[in-house]
Amino acid sequence: MTESRATSGADLHLELSAGRGLRAGLAEALREAARSGRLAPGTRLPSSRSLAADLGVARNTVAEAYAELVAEGWLTARQGSGTRVAERARPRRPGPGAGAAAPPRPPVRRGPAYDLTAGSPDLGGFPRAAWLAAARRALAAAPNEAFGYAADPRGRTELREALAGYLARARGVYADPGRIVLCAGFTHGLALLAKVLRARRVREVAVEGYGLAVHRGLLERRGLRTVPLPVDAAGACTTRLPGLAAGAVLLTPAHQFPTGVALTPGRRAAAVDWARTTGGLVVEDDYDGEFRYDRQPVGALQGLDPDRVVYLGTASKSLAPGLRMGWMVVPAGVLDEVLAAKGPAELASGVLDQLTLAEFIRSGAYDRHVRGMRQRYRRRRDELVAAVAGRVAVSGIAAGLHAVLDLPEGSQEGVLRAAAWHDLALEPLSRHAHPDAGLPPREALVVGYGTPPPSAWSPSLAALAASLP
Ligand SMILES: Cc1ncc(COP(=O)(O)O)c(C=O)c1O
Repeated sequence: MTESRATSGADLHLELSAGRGLRAGLAEALREAARSGRLAPGTRLPSSRSLAADLGVARNTVAEAYAELVAEGWLTARQGSGTRVAERARPRRPGPGAGAAAPPRPPVRRGPAYDLTAGSPDLGGFPRAAWLAAARRALAAAPNEAFGYAADPRGRTELREALAGYLARARGVYADPGRIVLCAGFTHGLALLAKVLRARRVREVAVEGYGLAVHRGLLERRGLRTVPLPVDAAGACTTRLPGLAAGAVLLTPAHQFPTGVALTPGRRAAAVDWARTTGGLVVEDDYDGEFRYDRQPVGALQGLDPDRVVYLGTASKSLAPGLRMGWMVVPAGVLDEVLAAKGPAELASGVLDQLTLAEFIRSGAYDRHVRGMRQRYRRRRDELVAAVAGRVAVSGIAAGLHAVLDLPEGSQEGVLRAAAWHDLALEPLSRHAHPDAGLPPREALVVGYGTPPPSAWSPSLAALAASLP
């Protein structure tokens, strides 16, 4: 598109007072805008030609008003830098612009210099160039219709189709694109399911005795009591489900969060059998299933019974949590309920991100990224194991971005104190225990080795090693 007078320059909203000459009215409107702080010091004004065209006045009228305000010190005019609001034009009262009297800044709270808490991938690993290239291709190919209100509450077909192929191939999920519903990360998907369960008059949801408190809190706030299942070396004790009154169970089968164990085939079968006999739902949180190091990937539980398991995946570990992109593969019998919970249109995820992720997956960039990050994380995991060898027992390392370090009895408090002294954020396993789980006390740390940026990895590891007994 060529720039015309109508499209060049910048918009400037001015309220011209009636009953004054044009030039005087314009000068007063500009003066008031600068005085009040609405136009912040340093703001570049449109050229006299462009503003004159917008206001439908002669260019000279604007030029004269500008000159008058320059003479008064409200504006500055410099060759090459245009006409700007003068730095000394301090606002009389706070306005919404950047020039308004700055509110007192909250004190900047500096977190610890090093962070080995779990929950974040290495944000420095975000594939900026490949994502940008996918975004360009996706944008160029997007039909105009994509930019409207999305009529399909499941989300864009392009992404649902790309995900269906990927999930079937890489995670063993039975994924018909028609039963994929996009969501803004796992957390949003869980909130939708909580709504579905409440509408079904479910009162209780079984959860893993160790798990994320935010997920338990989300369910509890929606009126669903969470009942903990013990977690042992075989994963959550799903064999206990028949003794509970739960209408659903939330599991992390591929890599239990936070203990890191994989749910054994027997426990998987027990969960599915329970769902079949009671009509309950299994909710599968596959948050880091892409990252498995030592064995063939542990497939999704959903593959065992796509009619009983709601599968939830997320880009939060594989790409970045800031994307807020997730996906649900929903049993046919639950789809309408999930869509009713979501609402009549796709309002949660932006179309550009959806189309970009679709292109990112389709072009193979997602696989390349995951494989590259897997190597990086595997190296870190090996370095972690080497750094603590012989001092603490490490477990949960076959997959994911975190490991569990079991500490010698009576040492946990001292380790956490030492970590704080070394400016290292660390969390004990006990922080993730369900309050009613009655778990045997276990002194252990959950170490998120994906979290530090590359520059902080070695010092973080050194700080950890220095904190251990
Ligand atoms: C156990 C578990 N589930 C799910 C998620 C992802 O949540 P979301 O997709 O809402 O970012 C995380 C991220 O830290 C997690 O640790």
